[in-house]
Amino acid sequence: MPFDRSIKIAPSILAADFANFGAECRAVEAEGADWIHVDVMDGHFVPNITFGPSTAKAIRPHIKGIMDVHLMIAPVDPYIDAFADAGTDILTAHVEAGPHIHRTLQAIRGAGMKAGLALNPGTPADAAAELMDAVDLICVMTVNPGFGGQKFIDMTAKIRRLRGMIGDRPVHIEIDGGVDPRTAPLVAAAGADVLVAGSAVFKGGSVEDPAPYGMNIRAIRNAAEGAL
Ligand code: DX5
Ligand code: ZN
Repeated sequence: MPFDRSIKIAPSILAADFANFGAECRAVEAEGADWIHVDVMDGHFVPNITFGPSTAKAIRPHIKGIMDVHLMIAPVDPYIDAFADAGTDILTAHVEAGPHIHRTLQAIRGAGMKAGLALNPGTPADAAAELMDAVDLICVMTVNPGFGGQKFIDMTAKIRRLRGMIGDRPVHIEIDGGVDPRTAPLVAAAGADVLVAGSAVFKGGSVEDPAPYGMNIRAIRNAAEGAL
């Protein structure tokens, strides 16, 4: 598949009904989601706990498109094969999660997945400088990871820096945290192409009444595309 830098909306199932992930994934895809963003938290790297690779594997058959797994865990390496086995397309690890991020990214690609690198708000763009040829995606956190529904932190300058550093490489810039129709134009104009959104996609809807999911996705997409 050719590299695609058009705007992609990736609903985070952190804001979905945890007792109904399969149906929630089918519903947001039917309503226009491009990717499904799966947040894995360990209660150690971040203060919250969600679920692990067995849940990702159970969700996979309910996703037609890309399963984008965001690991907020440390260490990462012992779990890479399990996430590959779960059917993960893109596996993202945090640069802050350990001393050997280059090895981790190599291992992710070696296991047959695309490799993502996430940067916390306090981490500068330069932390990715030596990793540009080892990554397929850079995730710029616009909240401190751990919880959905937090206030957007403006990382526009960092996104522009990263966009310049990426140059012609086929590397996505993903934004995660506080993305809604108001903040989406800022990050899209700065060079982001993948917009993760939890609360702003799932609010007002449900599996029984999924139309609001579609309205929410279109509102974010239109706002982002309007800024290009
Ligand atoms: C934060 C997670 C995000 C989160 C986004 O730790 O990585 O993916 O679900 O949620 P919203 O869009 O509600 O900020
Ligand atoms: Zn995430």
